[in-house]
Amino acid sequence: MATMESLIGLVNRIQRACTALGDYGGGDTAFSSLWDALPSVAVVGGQSSGKSSVLESIVGRDFLPRGSGIVTRRPLVLQLHKTEGRKEEYAEFGHMPRRRFTDFSLVRKEIQDETDRITGKSKQISPIPIHLSIYSPNVVNLTLIDLPGLTKVAVEGQPESIVEDIEKMVRTYVEKPNSIILAISPANQDIATSDAMKLAREVDPSGERTFGVLTKLDLMDKGTNALDVLEGRAYRLQHPWVGIVNRSQADINKNTDMIYARRREREYFATSPDYGHLANKMGSEYLAKLLSQHLESVIKAKIPGIISLINKGIDEMEAELDHLGRPIAIDAGAQLYTILELCRAFDKIFKEHLDGGRPGGDR
Ligand code: GDP
Ligand code: NA
Ligand code: MG
Repeated sequence: MATMESLIGLVNRIQRACTALGDYGGGDTAFSSLWDALPSVAVVGGQSSGKSSVLESIVGRDFLPRGSGIVTRRPLVLQLHKTEGRKEEYAEFGHMPRRRFTDFSLVRKEIQDETDRITGKSKQISPIPIHLSIYSPNVVNLTLIDLPGLTKVAVEGQPESIVEDIEKMVRTYVEKPNSIILAISPANQDIATSDAMKLAREVDPSGERTFGVLTKLDLMDKGTNALDVLEGRAYRLQHPWVGIVNRSQADINKNTDMIYARRREREYFATSPDYGHLANKMGSEYLAKLLSQHLESVIKAKIPGIISLINKGIDEMEAELDHLGRPIAIDAGAQLYTILELCRAFDKIFKEHLDGGRPGGDR
């Protein structure tokens, strides 16, 4: 387990290195191919489907910007690191590596500020990801990419093209064959109208890399339930559906504690006449574990491909360094050099994972 946990961390560090190089997919360098090849979990859903709530519940903290309109305007690569023993929780951003945030309301503010730094106050969107790491005893090792919510209309001050731009950006993430899709739909709307499932079906028709999440079970009309969806009859996927009960708006206004909300969610399922028989496969904690295990196994299967892309990237980078000339004085060269070292280290560690097949390395 320890071995596999570090794989998720390693992959995230490569993702960060690719971002530093400006290669977050779509380009034609080895590193943008590498970014595309790295497995990750992309979170998709319509506006107000409960995306932010699910992420906060998985993290066990309140830290995402809120508001009406399009709040998430840059991809947020959220890496969770489980810390053992220590009680303290803190966050770090890729763009300010030396600052530790222990106040999560400041994390929220920094996500907003960093979004605005790139997009201006124009409410435009940008594909340049923000990297955020959270260290906590209350999380599982997992990397999730939060994406702008799918929407049908632009709001005041936003360009008409934003609806299409968002869909295009979300698509670049979920289209990648290595992307795991966390598709979020609210239970109080017909699943046939879910933006998340519509997109997931298009890019993953066999449902092999889509995890369906149904939020707002507590808001369904009395006398109805979501068993048709949760038991896979309404919409068949190869992974089981997970039902969720997040905090309501009233809970948020009252500042209901996230850890308390998780417990209440557990109780909801345990005592539910409709879902009691599924209780141990429902809820945000179960979802987090399921995703963590799945991500680990997918990464493990991709190691050979990752190694060969890293090596290709090293070759390209060495050529570039030769071109710049050594010793490297200028900043760009120094950065390339750092990343080159990082890649060599990864190459070595991945090979160890591959050769070792260490006993106990599997779950
Ligand atoms: P997002 O736009 O997809 O990020 O959605 P949010 O997470 O911001 O949720 C939108 C609204 O729905 C908020 O007021 C949440 O409190 C509420 N909400 C989300 N999930 C649930 C749920 O499972 N139950 C209840 N009662 N409310 C929820
Ligand atoms: Na949706
Ligand atoms: Mg949101």
